[in-house]
Amino acid sequence: MTDGTEIRTRHIASDEGPLLRRLRLAALTDAPAAFWQTRDIVGREPASTWSRLAREGAASTRNVVVIAERTGEAIGMVQGLTPSRRAWLRELAAMWVAPEARGGAAADALVLAAVDWACRAGAEAVKLWVAPRNEPARRLYARHGFVALGGPQPVTDDPTVKTFIPMLRPLYPARPPSRR
Ligand SMILES: CC(C)(COP(=O)(O)OP(=O)(O)OC[C@H]1O[C@@H](n2cnc3c(N)ncnc32)[C@H](O)[C@@H]1OP(=O)(O)O)[C@@H](O)C(=O)NCCC(=O)NCCS
Repeated sequence: MTDGTEIRTRHIASDEGPLLRRLRLAALTDAPAAFWQTRDIVGREPASTWSRLAREGAASTRNVVVIAERTGEAIGMVQGLTPSRRAWLRELAAMWVAPEARGGAAADALVLAAVDWACRAGAEAVKLWVAPRNEPARRLYARHGFVALGGPQPVTDDPTVKTFIPMLRPLYPARPPSRR
């Protein structure tokens, strides 16, 4: 539950690989069905992987990691990525709010920060994947203008991986269309 304390969001700092690891493993432990990656595999990633992800997520138009904090303590995260060969698109991933902070402002703040980042990066749309039975996440994303693109599909080429529903939110063009 939330106690009304203010939630702040910020981009991760380039030296915060250990924080990113802690949050991501907490998410995969708390809600394994919500993500296609598994805690076992992600938990084996070396420190260098987390350092790289934090560096890339700190100050880039291609990648971002947004942290939500309450009274200085990290209580959630979301990752923004640019899929290869789709410079116009950003993907929102690894969204998580700690159970004790749910039902408050954190989830909205994280989605808004990720969408704001995508707009500033010049993207035309934001895409994400959500588990079919993940009602809280589906409702959250729908509230923010994401629309399901169809039924459950594999996220990767691996047929053994769980299926997820793709959702898309178009972003308004930064410039009005030019006259012909
Ligand atoms: C998804 C998540 C970030 C949402 O955070 P939150 O703080 O619960 O978000 P909100 O309080 O805004 O709730 C979102 C919606 O779910 C609803 N909801 C909350 N708990 C619910 C439940 N148990 N069953 C169904 N709906 C529920 C809320 O009423 C709200 O819907 P509304 O906008 O129609 O009122 C959080 O639940 C979470 O981290 N879950 C585990 C990880 C995860 O699923 N990540 C998403 C991966 S795509």
